[in-house]
Amino acid sequence: MLTWTLTIVGLLLCFFQGFAFAKSPLNSKPVQTWFPQQVAASQNFLLKNISPTDGFPGSVIASPSRANPNYYFHWIRDAALVMETVRHLEQKYEARTPFPLLASQRNPFDQILRDYTAFSRLNQITQTLTGLGEPKYYVDGSAFSDAWGRPQNDGPALRAVTLGQWALELIARGDLTYVKNWLYRAELPARTVVKADLEYVSHHWQQPSFDLWEEVLADHFYTLMVQRKALVIGSQLAQKMNDPKAAEWYTKQAQLISVKLEKFWNQEKQIILTSLNYAGGLDSKKSNLDIAVLLAVLHGQIDGYSFSVQDPRVEKTVSQLISVFAKHYPINVNNPQYAPAIGRYTEDVYSGNGFDGGNPWFLTTLAVAEFYFLKAGSSRNFNQKLFFRNLGTRFLERVQLHSHPDYHLSEQIDRTHGAMIGAEDLTWSHSAILTTHFANQSF
Ligand code: NOJ
Ligand code: NOJ
Repeated sequence: MLTWTLTIVGLLLCFFQGFAFAKSPLNSKPVQTWFPQQVAASQNFLLKNISPTDGFPGSVIASPSRANPNYYFHWIRDAALVMETVRHLEQKYEARTPFPLLASQRNPFDQILRDYTAFSRLNQITQTLTGLGEPKYYVDGSAFSDAWGRPQNDGPALRAVTLGQWALELIARGDLTYVKNWLYRAELPARTVVKADLEYVSHHWQQPSFDLWEEVLADHFYTLMVQRKALVIGSQLAQKMNDPKAAEWYTKQAQLISVKLEKFWNQEKQIILTSLNYAGGLDSKKSNLDIAVLLAVLHGQIDGYSFSVQDPRVEKTVSQLISVFAKHYPINVNNPQYAPAIGRYTEDVYSGNGFDGGNPWFLTTLAVAEFYFLKAGSSRNFNQKLFFRNLGTRFLERVQLHSHPDYHLSEQIDRTHGAMIGAEDLTWSHSAILTTHFANQSF
């Protein structure tokens, strides 16, 4: 462990030599000034993309962009991740204002989660090509039936993670009626959102599906990690909602997933592979090295289970990702004084509105910052805390370098010019700013 820590220390110091006083030409504030401003702006952009006027309340557009590319859809994955951020905002609000006296002080995030729940139930009962595995819907709730990579089985799992945790909080606050009516009722066939998702996840995790990038049909580390988390939370919820047999079944499936997840560690390459058992779709990812593995940990780690931010296998995978991307994009090679901008995987060709070469993304670069902030939060040694915190900040400075002075954030960063490209104000990019901020506050 110690040797390993020293190795990455050495490796990373090479990247960041002489970095301390560098400032972005585009956005020349110190990062400590910029980041809180970006956080506040991102929260507004994120909320703006929820319940659009031409959509159902609780729907989430992936981006306001309606053409080149058209991201004006409710993606199950993006929406669940965004609502997980809203759930955090709701919790923080609740902690600040536990007993609202005036109607105007009522938790505004609570209503958003209720709308999202109602829209999700509508999605679940809508006829689609792949049932609950369907990746996206029109914002009025109608099915999208054009050719697409489907099913994508991380979607229902992520939704169950978000709404399952919210259900546990509502139970703790005494709102059992709402939970029973909408989120979890012990009955089959399931007619509540979380119960329906848990049934789907627990009966489908063994089957291949398309990955979070919607390209590869296989078994994915990302999908399995979030499926396991859904089932662990689902089992706690089932227990509380008087459904002991289901609790047992969900726990059993979670344990089986844990066994399967071990197979993704590749001893020879010293990385966690992103996919196994290729079954269709794009097959260009020869390296099998993908930032999806880090996102899997950020979205799917759960106390007491394997593959946490502290796991040396995760650390080794992240280090390899950082070094391949550092060499891969011109903006990294040309600005080595900054921490590298991070993309999805090096063989990527998706340019945000076409296929003329992959680029770094905001949400993937932020994932590395978030990772180091979480590591700082969970290390006990003060120097180590400081070390990881500084590392996280380096990646934030890279994000700042390519961000816009008016705080808009698109999906991608042009690999040669460093300008923003791809879907504008990607809701997930703004959400990643907020989750990175939460991780940075956690110590
Ligand atoms: C191909 C991209 O690689 C994928 O991630 C994206 O979801 C689809 N095109 C749709 O834009
Ligand atoms: C493309 C990404 O690959 C996918 O993960 C995402 O769900 C969609 N864009 C929508 O943001």
